[in-house]
Amino acid sequence: MLHRHTLGRVPPKPHTAFYDEDGSLLMEQCMTRQGFEGPFTILYFRTPPTDEFSVESLSLAGFCPVEAVREQPLHRRHIRTQDLSPKGDFLTARQTVLVNKSVHIGVCKPAKPAERFFSNGDGDELYFVKEGSGLLESVYGMLPFREHDYLLIPKSTPYRIHLEGDRGTMLVFEGRPWLGIPGEYRNSYGQLTDYAPFTHRDFRLPTELLRYDEARHGRAPYEIVVKMSDELTVHTYEKFPLDVVGWDGALYPVAFNIHDYQPKTGLVHLPPTIHTTFAGNGFVVCSFVPRKTDFHPQAVPCPYGHASADMDEILYYVAGNFTSRKGIDSESISLHPQGVAHGPHPGTYEASIGTTETSELAVMCDTYEPLRLTTVADGIEDKQYHTSWVR
Ligand SMILES: [Fe+2]
Repeated sequence: MLHRHTLGRVPPKPHTAFYDEDGSLLMEQCMTRQGFEGPFTILYFRTPPTDEFSVESLSLAGFCPVEAVREQPLHRRHIRTQDLSPKGDFLTARQTVLVNKSVHIGVCKPAKPAERFFSNGDGDELYFVKEGSGLLESVYGMLPFREHDYLLIPKSTPYRIHLEGDRGTMLVFEGRPWLGIPGEYRNSYGQLTDYAPFTHRDFRLPTELLRYDEARHGRAPYEIVVKMSDELTVHTYEKFPLDVVGWDGALYPVAFNIHDYQPKTGLVHLPPTIHTTFAGNGFVVCSFVPRKTDFHPQAVPCPYGHASADMDEILYYVAGNFTSRKGIDSESISLHPQGVAHGPHPGTYEASIGTTETSELAVMCDTYEPLRLTTVADGIEDKQYHTSWVR
């Protein structure tokens, strides 16, 4: 997703015979996007990942199939994801709260060690690790992560997420079909520009290949849960299906810490566009990080009221003071839909004048297509939020 990278052993030329140390022929597999026009990676497997002997359907309540509310009157919404209890592993804990055709947004608060590998065929995934640290284990290798990292995982990557102490809190975006680094942050050579809000050095890549370990991965059969067209199937393999000796290409997971995002400050308040971090088909993900605020002597640092007539806007609150909001806590998600205006809560606009910095830490997502609440979101919604601006 960033630049070509190699991990492990690859032959000098693609599509040529390549052997393991014991002399057995390795199986090449090209992971390609946009047919054969987009980014790709070539992996070399000890055993072809095509020997599944069983495929069974799976249903995970709150995640797949996703269930949207039947009716959704036009309200500003406050979804209290802090009210969801930890349960399950990184996969079975997933709870989707907002959906449209471009993006599914959910939270994940595991309480158990990771079990089966998961591969999302519906889109690229972006985790934001609100609490916790651990290891992303994928067919591309091992990628350690820490608190406040984003983890960007390409579509159809088999992976598991291990959390220290088996606990953590993560926000998850499923970009349908893609989610990545905005094109405007690259020059025509594909390199990140020097005026992008991050550099190549800010992204961390898998550090070592995943090696099959019976203690870690168990004995045959091996399972991968695959999501495709919003249905889950469990694929069962005779041989460990992630046994790779090397790969090279431009598709692989990356980690990026939100505190490495370089914020911009203006003479007066700048729109949220300047916080754009990732983009997908019809939506953007933005990072609000602690920063100096606007430096005009009469600047009002608090966001001005606005009606973003073509976009729904959600904000996931992480830490710090939220200059424009009251009654919002860490892990809250607010949804300010297109169709009605929104703005700072009473008192917050006035209180921001004269401040020179903000400590807010939050992740925002703006979508062109209106978002629908799921039944999970409906169950944890603060129903008074829409009228909480009344003085
Ligand atoms: Fe807004």
